[in-house]
Amino acid sequence: MEKLKQAHGNWVDGDRFWDREKDIELMVEKIDEGAHVLLTAQRRMGKTSLMREAKRRLEGRYICLFADFQKASSAEDAMVELSLALKPHEKLWARIRGLFANILIAVVERVEEMNVGELGVKLRAGLTSGNRSDKGDSLFSIMAGSEIPVLLLIDEAPVMVNRILKGGDYTVTPERKSEADRFMSWLRKNSQQHQGRIRIILSGSIGFEPVLRQAGLSAAINNFLPFALEPWDGPTAIGCLRALANEYGVVLKDNAEAEMIKMIGYCIPHHVQMFFTHVRDRCKRRGRMDFYPAEVAEVYADQMLGVRGHAELTHYEDRLKLVLGPEILPLALEMLTEAAVTGCLAPTAPSAIQTGYEFRETSVREATEEVLRVLEHDGYFKPGAGGYVFESRLLKDWWEKRYSALYVPALQRGV
Ligand SMILES: Nc1ncnc2c1ncn2[C@@H]1O[C@H](COP(=O)(O)OP(=O)(O)OP(=O)(O)O)[C@@H](O)[C@H]1O
Ligand SMILES: [Mg+2]
Repeated sequence: MEKLKQAHGNWVDGDRFWDREKDIELMVEKIDEGAHVLLTAQRRMGKTSLMREAKRRLEGRYICLFADFQKASSAEDAMVELSLALKPHEKLWARIRGLFANILIAVVERVEEMNVGELGVKLRAGLTSGNRSDKGDSLFSIMAGSEIPVLLLIDEAPVMVNRILKGGDYTVTPERKSEADRFMSWLRKNSQQHQGRIRIILSGSIGFEPVLRQAGLSAAINNFLPFALEPWDGPTAIGCLRALANEYGVVLKDNAEAEMIKMIGYCIPHHVQMFFTHVRDRCKRRGRMDFYPAEVAEVYADQMLGVRGHAELTHYEDRLKLVLGPEILPLALEMLTEAAVTGCLAPTAPSAIQTGYEFRETSVREATEEVLRVLEHDGYFKPGAGGYVFESRLLKDWWEKRYSALYVPALQRGV
């Protein structure tokens, strides 16, 4: 029987990575054909893990470079990240050193001993002193000149573009817009110019499309093939629970795993892993490793919807705040609460919710449309029979538990 090691919230690969065989196969097929890919999915679906696992498996066939733009806030930061990703590849790194010779010359004998942080600072200085866009293009040319093709995996690119666009004060200015435009144009130009030699996979914990739309750059990545990562199906999630149970000596009795999956409904891998962690902890605490279907509802209510669930929800809110800004965020939270409390966001509810809101830069109607677009695009809501409903029952239950106490549904107000 298969075994699987637990994840700890961060991305997984190798012996902690479960299934996704068909996804990897399909994505690699597109990569092999030379396509650039935009990997999209709801939060915690395993996008970063899929990229890491693909990197692990494709190493040797491609030069796989992974860059995380989470902390990057400018095109220069992005270029530094990409340059540093080349460090393990001797020949390419030698050319990068040449590219930055102006700045590295003074420290030439120390370069190999410098840590990544120090090197990053130096490279960044090199970009500020020289012609940035030339260097950026040369960076891609160096990659394209590698003996085997390059697979560039870029995570959190939308977070970075969002930061360029809105700065620390969440305000889109014409300067910021044109900076975002310059970055996207650079990426687009190079992705087209080196197609066949370089493949790029872009992903992130917020959707790219809403961010680009806000920048007026919706067409910027239309040469990337969208690839949507779906939740696990029932058998895959059940297989994961069994493999975890097998690794840690939990005995799932009378098909308790099927009951767990029924309870979650929508199998986002992170949520499946969380559920198992709670079950395992419960078994260990009481010193008996048998776990029965009758216990499932209790673990769900007490643990899944407990304090750790709340912590997860904070991450969701942080990401929504990034995309929508602090001014519009409360409107989004209210729409989510309405859907959680009443079961769906009826088509008439937004206009009742809108009362009392006013925004500096946009009308309430436009803001509402924007919120709905983001909530649908990023997988919170899907259209249901009576309006928008939550994709994930767990997310709905979290939301309801956190916000429902003092909430009066929109259509009952003023009655
Ligand atoms: N293939 C997988 N096998 C096992 N666990 C997985 C897998 N994919 C995701 N997970 C679980 O989900 C968690 C989150 O994974 P990951 O960070 O890759 O998701 P993500 O979609 O990148 O999240 P975010 O939206 O926050 O960027 C992991 O810690 C792990 O518990
Ligand atoms: Mg991620």
